[in-house]
Amino acid sequence: MLVSAKDMLNRARDGHYAVGQFNINNLEWTKAILLTAQEMNSPVILGVSEGAGKYMCGYRTVVDMTKGMIDNLKITVPVCIHLDHGSYEAALACIAAGFSSVMFDGSKYPIEENITKTTELVKLTNNLGLSLEAEVGAIGGEEDGTVNMGECADPDECKRIADLGVTMLAAGIGNIHGKYPANWPGLRFDVLAAVKEKTGDMPLVLHGGTGIPADMIREAIRLGVCKINVNTECQISFTAAVRQYIEDGKDLVGKGFDPRKVLAPGVEAIKATVREKIELFGSAGKA
Ligand code: 13P
Repeated sequence: MLVSAKDMLNRARDGHYAVGQFNINNLEWTKAILLTAQEMNSPVILGVSEGAGKYMCGYRTVVDMTKGMIDNLKITVPVCIHLDHGSYEAALACIAAGFSSVMFDGSKYPIEENITKTTELVKLTNNLGLSLEAEVGAIGGEEDGTVNMGECADPDECKRIADLGVTMLAAGIGNIHGKYPANWPGLRFDVLAAVKEKTGDMPLVLHGGTGIPADMIREAIRLGVCKINVNTECQISFTAAVRQYIEDGKDLVGKGFDPRKVLAPGVEAIKATVREKIELFGSAGKA
């Protein structure tokens, strides 16, 4: 069932758990995530970055592939297809292609411009019954080997964006995309609590889910996080499993070179990662 993220996140907020957003890259990724969500009876959000959308031959292909899989695999849990960190133009393109949800990442703009563009998208998505994620405070990450620690969100700016009527809000709280460096000081729960205090019922989003220790994830959920994004961790587990297959020489035995056989351990590894996250986030059985 393809749905917007609105209902699933409001229910997560009221039930004190979080729904996982797992980014997809191809058919194997999408299949692994959908099957695991179904097996665990959990709602799920498929994250699509602009780069992944391009790689998969456009947003339409992503929508058609996902709808085909939902039908073919008899997926009955709520599934949301969501643009991850989109530009304004990408958000429009995804809406036209049939995404059920988009993120407009205006965090790189001055707050007034972020507000103007987010306001336009609020109108558009509301009219179409789609969900919209906005961002305040840049989320760090690794670029050219250097880890940028990001920028914590200003709780007053978060309130201004939340009041526009977005569905969910990503606030930078010391989280970063990719692996966390050894000297990472941890999530800023003081900032998260201040954002929650200002934004009330707004479901909050935690990006950079890879590598955040379980106790910090639980505390973030307790303080109002309803959606947690995971990308790198699935990539690491997929690649490690495929590497093992090759290193074990399995591709050299019989028809072990068949790509469906080569990628199968990777698919199982993604499933195991997604299963572990759904369990930790508390969304199992909440479909
Ligand atoms: P990670 O790659 O660190 O898991 O972050 C994913 C993310 O936040 C996508 O928006």
